[in-house]
Formats: sequence, C-alpha cells, structure tokens
Amino acid sequence: MATESHAASSPARIRLIQPDDWHLHLRDGSVLRHVVLDSARQFGRAIIMPNLKPPVLTLEDARAYRDRIRNALRLACEQAGADAMPSFEPLMTLYLTDRTTPDEIRRARDSGFVHGVKLYPAGATTHSDAGVTDLLGQCRTTLAAMQACGMPLLVHGEVTDPAVDLFDREAVFIERVMQPLRRAFPELKVVFEHLTTADGAAYVMQAEGPIGATLTPQHLLYNRNALFKGGLRPHWYCLPVLKRETHRLALLEAATSGNPRFFLGTDSAPHPRGAKEQDCGCAGCYTARYAMALYATAFESVGRLDRLEAFASKHGPAFYGLPPNPGALILERGGNPIPRDLPLGEDVVVPLAAGESLPWRVSQDAEQA
Ligand code: NCD
Ligand code: ZN
Repeated sequence: MATESHAASSPARIRLIQPDDWHLHLRDGSVLRHVVLDSARQFGRAIIMPNLKPPVLTLEDARAYRDRIRNALRLACEQAGADAMPSFEPLMTLYLTDRTTPDEIRRARDSGFVHGVKLYPAGATTHSDAGVTDLLGQCRTTLAAMQACGMPLLVHGEVTDPAVDLFDREAVFIERVMQPLRRAFPELKVVFEHLTTADGAAYVMQAEGPIGATLTPQHLLYNRNALFKGGLRPHWYCLPVLKRETHRLALLEAATSGNPRFFLGTDSAPHPRGAKEQDCGCAGCYTARYAMALYATAFESVGRLDRLEAFASKHGPAFYGLPPNPGALILERGGNPIPRDLPLGEDVVVPLAAGESLPWRVSQDAEQA
C-alpha cells in the first residue's frame, strides 16, 4: 500500500490493491439496478448473499441471479452515462436449507462460480424463514460434501432461542453451534460472518482449522448507543445488532491486527426507507456507497491506515483461494458528506451515517495497477 503525505501517519492519499466485499446483499429487480454500481465502483468482487425472496437454493438459481446482476450493472452504467463498465465479478452463494443435497454442493463447486453456502438459522434475520432448523441434525451429509470439496460455509452466527438475550446470541452461538460444528467437521472452511463481539473475535483468533471472519463498517464505527442517540434510530439497526463499546474496540483491534483471518465484508443490506421506519422495521444498514471511506475512517481512528490494504484486499482472496485483484483503488482525504437518502427503485434508502461527513473519499481517477 502506498501513502503520500508529509507525515506518514496522516497521508493525503492511499493507493490500495483493489478491494473485495466478502459479504454483500444486492437484492433483485429495480433495487439491484440502483445499488450494484455503488459496489462495483470500489470492489473488484463481492460475495453475493442468497437471501432473496424466494432464496437462491440451486446452482441454476445462482446462475440466473448472476446473469441478472451482470445485466443490472450494464444497465446502471448506461443510465449513469459511464464511459467504461467497471469490472466486477459477483461471487455467488447458495442458501442452505434442511433439504440442500450433497449433489447440489458438488455441482455448485464444479461450476467455479459458487464460492460459498450460507447458513441462516431459521428466523435469525431478514429473509431467513427458509433457513436451517437444526444444523447437525439435518445437514450432516451436505456439510460432509462441503468439507470434502472445499466449499466454505458462511455462517450467520446467532442462536434464535427466544430465551437468549438478543445481545448474547452470538456468544451463545459459539458454544451451542460453532464449536460442535467444527468438532464434527474440522476441515470445513467456515466464515463467521459479520462478527459483532469480543467473544467472536477471540474465538476466531484461537480456533483451529480453516476459519475466517468478516467485519462490517457499522460494527467497527458504532456501538449500541448509536441505536438510541436522542431517539430511536432505525437506520443503525442491523443483525447481529450493534453491541457495547468493549466489543467494538475488540473488533477494531481484530480488523487492524494484521491477522489474515479477518477481512472486509460490508453486509450492505438496502431496505426502502419505509420498511425501516415503521412499527416493525427491517434489519440492515446500507453501507455500499461509502464503504471504503467508512473503513478508512475506522482504521484511521486507531492509527492503523497502513493495515487497511491487507484487510480489504489480501486476506479475503487468500481465504477463498483466489488471487488479489489486478487493479487499484485510490482513497483521498477530503470531506465526503453522506446524503440524507439515495434513490432505490421507486423508493429511497437512507445510508448509514446519513447527514454526517467522512474524512475520506474514493478518488475519481480510475487507476489500473
Ligand atoms: C440482512 C438483510 O437485510 O438481508 N440484514 C442485516 O441486518 N444484516 C441479513 C443479514 O445479513 O443478517
Ligand atoms: Zn448479511
């Protein structure tokens, strides 16, 4: 990573190997057309979450969704009057259910374009009702096939037991699900998605075998006070929910530690404004458009901008067995005001930190390495 400045600790410009987003919700239809370019302008690739309605269950579903993403990107570029289409590769995933077969896993692996299978415990989050009811009871042969062919399991790590406090659901998941799972399948590649706790970070650091974890910008920048600042703040509500400050600090330490198990995954999850501002608002923060500026802000807050490139551009590809991107992305210092809302299909989406200004922005000078 190259930095340019008088004082190395506060560079004016940072040039990174082009980053990837290892956890992204792009949705479908007109929403997809409105959000896809926000990711493609920064990231070379993204792991595309399969929690559509209906979910992406089979290799054929994933192939069709990948085509829709590519078409949407083409259309979005035309509409934006872009001279050239950014090269952006959607890395597809399947949605694990009690009925996913080992054959489907092997076909998906052979396709070369499905890079993970997502575990949503049934009822844990947005569009998870088709998810898994009992992982080790229902999915053993499928997990065995995944382990055998090297297909990563991407885990939403929260228990759904209503008796467990919402803020403890990740920590309890480690004991009740993650540890038994990894004892039963020690060679299975696992990504602990959107980590939110010190317990999760400690687990990932010390665990044996192939494990990684994604970290979102909101969990690195905010604690749970953000949900209640001066009133109820639905645009800071996501799942797993923001935790207390000690957890945020542990996550920031993990992200900036240089440990290759931790990598970038925005969990950008657009919902129309009205779906969040209502009596039962949806979980999900829209972070894609300002993702790299948000991460740079978080890393700079602890004086670790020099570790951003490894987190954003190297650790993820290494875990997934892919080369780093050939291109580059330049971040420059300068006010980056986040608008109150952005167009989203026929509606609008309120981005994370709407109305605030970030100290970093993505440079418009496209540069290829
Ligand atoms: C995601 C969504 O809206 O699809 N929401 C969220 O709060 N993160 C689902 C998920 O990743 O849990
Ligand atoms: Zn997600």
